[in-house]
Amino acid sequence: MTTAEFDPVSFKQTQRANWNAISEGWLSCSADFESGGAPVTARLLELAGVRRGHRVLDVGTGTGEPALSAAAVVGATGAVTGIDLAPDMIDRARDRGRGMGNIEFAVGDVESLDFPAASFDVVLSRWGLMFAVDRVETFRTLARVLVPGGLLAAAVWAVPGSAAPMMSLGFQTIAERLELPPAPPGAPGPFSMGDPEAVAAELAKAGFGEVEVTAFQVPFVLESPQRFIEFNKVVIPPGLKTMLRERFGSADDPETWAAVGAAVEPYRTSEGAVALPSKALLLRAVAPIG
Ligand SMILES: C[S@@+](CC[C@H](N)C(=O)[O-])C[C@H]1O[C@@H](n2cnc3c(N)ncnc32)[C@H](O)[C@@H]1O
Repeated sequence: MTTAEFDPVSFKQTQRANWNAISEGWLSCSADFESGGAPVTARLLELAGVRRGHRVLDVGTGTGEPALSAAAVVGATGAVTGIDLAPDMIDRARDRGRGMGNIEFAVGDVESLDFPAASFDVVLSRWGLMFAVDRVETFRTLARVLVPGGLLAAAVWAVPGSAAPMMSLGFQTIAERLELPPAPPGAPGPFSMGDPEAVAAELAKAGFGEVEVTAFQVPFVLESPQRFIEFNKVVIPPGLKTMLRERFGSADDPETWAAVGAAVEPYRTSEGAVALPSKALLLRAVAPIG
């Protein structure tokens, strides 16, 4: 197997197209995803000390978390802004936030934010930062939009990918069926920030202080292997579906999806549900004072 070349421009275009394409599917699975996501959101709000009156930025907000949860905490005297690269994600987040007076959503790239300096007391991100191409520059940008001493709290996936089966098992099974080459080393992607020392060093290089990286077991539970299959069917990128079609005649190729279901059999609970505890890293860092 050869390793594919990494092209940052086409990467970003593909990211936007992929996340647009799966935005509806992502929302349709939110009850399943929040079985693990909600405890992470609660911990991020706690790590960042989000409170009434705070101005909060959520980067890579997707369909609106943790922005919507932060809005409930900051109240009418606070304000939350959620940004995402994918306009279709933002449309769905806006629908969910309609009627809340203290939240707005905008299309934006975390790598080129144009907010004035010191616009926010807190920056949050739940599984959004790993897709940035230049992480140190991204962290510098986040430090700039934070007030001096402001807090960054973010969740990323730990490595190896097998530590986070909710995110890796489906993709890995499909990638094996398609005999895909491994991602280029160092390329942005779900598991690109899984090395705690490297991430802490990057945050420090960007000027953040008091950097803490802690492990968090995300308690995903799905009602059945079938539900895991349905989750993967709606969140895999369109390019993979095209490859399945080309290789096996259909994106619904029964053998592929049976293999995805079989992959979670070892995770069955005695009640028949599927428990997929997945390891995240939670980052907490303080923006430079001077
Ligand atoms: C795994 S989803 C997480 C969504 C949401 N925070 C959640 O936890 O449900 C990652 C999100 O990051 C967004 N994203 C990827 N690259 C981005 C970038 N450079 N700037 C802003 N958002 C980006 C994607 O469009 C996607 O909505």
